[in-house]
Amino acid sequence: MSAGWHWFVILGTILSLAAMGWLLVSNRTTSGEETTGHEWDGIQELDNPLPMWWVGMFVVSIVFTLIYLAYYPGLGNFDGAGAWSSEDQHQAEVDAHEARFAPLYAELGAIDSDALMGDRRAMQVGRRLFINHCSTCHGVNANGSFGFPNLTDEEWIWGGDYNAIRTTLVQGRVAQMPAWGPALGEEGVTNVANYVRKLAGLDHDAEAAAAGMQSYNTICIACHTPEGKGNPLLGSPDLDNDIWLYGSSVEEISFTITHGRQGNMPAQADILTDDKIHILTSYVRSLSQ
Ligand code: HEC
Ligand code: HEC
Repeated sequence: MSAGWHWFVILGTILSLAAMGWLLVSNRTTSGEETTGHEWDGIQELDNPLPMWWVGMFVVSIVFTLIYLAYYPGLGNFDGAGAWSSEDQHQAEVDAHEARFAPLYAELGAIDSDALMGDRRAMQVGRRLFINHCSTCHGVNANGSFGFPNLTDEEWIWGGDYNAIRTTLVQGRVAQMPAWGPALGEEGVTNVANYVRKLAGLDHDAEAAAAGMQSYNTICIACHTPEGKGNPLLGSPDLDNDIWLYGSSVEEISFTITHGRQGNMPAQADILTDDKIHILTSYVRSLSQ
């Protein structure tokens, strides 16, 4: 908060407290008459002092406010004498939680991945980690969705052995499928899309596919091979099966070819410990087996 707002908050708070105190005190004295002189329809307004219990509660709440504002942050940038903050409290709870589970993660982290996959408890821990850290993108059951790969099938874009999956988690992955719209033109794109569907064994316009084949063999084979096989070094997926990251209709494939795709799996090295990555790698391996 800038100095201006800092003082604005402090003055605003103190002045309203003072105003409330003044209101309280100024209403303690009465006119001395029995009524205020207000009368309507035979009902008279009596002029009594505020009841003591009510004044007492008012005073207690003002005193409470002053103690609270002295101890907790509330007055502008002033930290409060207690130096409490919600971030620190959250961090302390996270630390306590981590300390409680550290021995479990260390124990599982030392076990070989194949053995972990057969260990029910380890896989339960893995599932919980997965739900916390991965399910927002890959789904609770790791089935994926548009743009997010299914981790339970047999196709691995970046490789499915222990080291490949571990590297995917540690370093993250950024796929680079360039945009070919400008180079191919709209019709050219539709033709290649039909050829891709032919490679995948899906129904297609034979004439368009024949016209698209040459472009495919010139441009696409560098990353997708003549048969439509993927390359785990580039993260290009297989095009010759019925597993699709971005959809398999002519329209969807054409969109992919026209605009390119840059799927991004975020690196976990700074988020998860080595032990957790080991457990998660084993959990992910277990999903497709
Ligand atoms: C430089 C390498 C490269 C070239 C050249 C390339 N691609 Fe790709 N392609 C990729 C990568 C990497 C991906 C994965 C993108 C992602 O995961 O976000 C991909 C994804 C795709 C997909 C999506 C597959 C799915 O599962 O949804 C299609 C379709 C595709 N490419 C077709 C083509 C066609 C057709 C050409 C030629 C016009 C081509 N690609 C050229 C690297 C390439
Ligand atoms: C912000 C979204 C996001 C989160 C969170 C995320 N992923 Fe991913 N992940 C992706 C995307 C997108 C890809 C595909 C990248 C590409 O297009 O090649 C991917 C790819 C992968 C792959 C490679 C799949 C293959 O076929 O090779 C694995 C394994 C994986 N993620 C596991 C995980 C695990 C385990 C976690 C939790 C620690 C996780 N991901 C968290 C978005 C995410």
